Parts: sequence; C-alpha cells; structure tokens
Amino acid sequence: MPRTRYCIANWKMNFNLSDAEEFLAAWKNKDLNNPHIKTIFCPSFTELFAISELLGTSSSELGAQNVFYESRGAFTGEISCAMLKETGCQWVIVGHSERRTRLGDTDEMIHKKLHQIILEDLCPILCIGENIDERNSGQTATVLERQISIACKHINKEKLNTMLIAYEPVWAIGTGTTATSSMVGEAHYDIRNILRTNGINADGVSILYGGSVSVDNAESLSNISDVDGFLIGGASLDIEKFYSIYNKL
Ligand code: PGA
Repeated sequence: MPRTRYCIANWKMNFNLSDAEEFLAAWKNKDLNNPHIKTIFCPSFTELFAISELLGTSSSELGAQNVFYESRGAFTGEISCAMLKETGCQWVIVGHSERRTRLGDTDEMIHKKLHQIILEDLCPILCIGENIDERNSGQTATVLERQISIACKHINKEKLNTMLIAYEPVWAIGTGTTATSSMVGEAHYDIRNILRTNGINADGVSILYGGSVSVDNAESLSNISDVDGFLIGGASLDIEKFYSIYNKL
C-alpha cells in the first residue's frame, strides 16, 4: 500500500489568530482533492480551539508544536496531551530542533513526550536531524540512530505505526540552504533502516523532509523515493507558496 504523503505547516511563533483565520479562509477555497496528501496545520496553542472550529469537516487536520510529558500537575506554563485533545488536535510535533537547541529538550525528554503522546492516543511527528558539525564530521547516521532509538525505546512498536518522522537537518532550517537530493535520499534510506533495526514497521512510516522547503525545490525533493512529504516553516506562512508546494507533492 502506498504511504500517505503529508504537507505540514509549522507556523512556529509567527501567526496571531487573525493571520491564521485569514490564511484558512483562503485555504478553504483551494482545490484540495488529492486523496493521497494529508495537510496538517500546527499553529500556536492559543489558536488551537479557533482553528479546530475553522477546519471543521475540511480534510485538513490540526497539530500542536509541542506538549509536556506529564499528564497533569504543578508544571507552570506547560500543556498536556489531554488539553491538546480537548481542542480537537490530533497531531503533535516533538523534538523539533529549535526545542532541542534553544529550549532545552533533551533526547530523554523527547522520549518521555513521545511516550505520553502515544499513551494518550495522539499522533507524533518526530523531528530528527544533525547539525552542521555532525554532518561535516561524518556523524549524520550516528546522530539519527541515537535520536530515533532513544525517542522510541520501550514504546510499543505497533503503536508507533501512527508516527511520522521529519528529517530536518538543523543547518537547513530557516537558512535558505536545502540539503541536496543525495543527502536527503541517503538520510531517509538510513532512517528507514534504523526504524527497521528498532523493530518498527519501517515501510509503513511516512518520512518527511524539512528545512527550507520552497516552491523552487519542492518538486525535486518530492521525487526522491523515500520522501513522503514535507514539514514546512517559512514557506507555510504564504498561502500561495504553501499551496504550490502542496501541488508538487
Ligand atoms: P523552514 O522550517 O521551512 O523555515 O526551514 C522548517 C521547520 O522548522 O520545520
């Protein structure tokens, strides 16, 4: 069975509610009839309820950009899986490099978050990727191996069937520099092997690419055999660019 392809907007801390509403009002008028592509919007927490309502019965789905790994308690400023579910959210980004490098998420914390997301029946979008020093010193595969095996350890492998992986080289995020087709092809091939070694249904997991995806590079990236979609930051803030990328998937 062909894997589902995904076009995911990671709006980060950019859109306020009126920006998001304006975007989605226009999005609803687009022809989104490709049954093989699922679109997911990941706005800020404060917009989840409103956007859930706006998406209504549309084919697009709702994701959060982060979650905490405890179910409730004295964790000022954090948000739980149950709270996300209450908004109508189905997906959660976990392990984004901005959280790993700037906001203190460790491999171990990412593991706990992934565990909680699975436990509470949300679907994870697990982000992994090497930084430039790791790539230049030939460590890419080792880093991907470490990130996946720590994140997924002790988690029921069948439950991980709902997981998406986003391969996002840190040096390509928001920089305008995209990984070359051969780098992406090689990393995605390695990721599938790492999933297999970890007992996960590697052929069933959709693996997305993220990092400066644009209208210009979307088609060639999409043609790489192991690429099942995109996690898009900057270009997802412009509806015409996002729609053009959707059409290239
Ligand atoms: P970018 O961000 O498309 O702006 O590089 C991607 C991401 O951070 O998920």
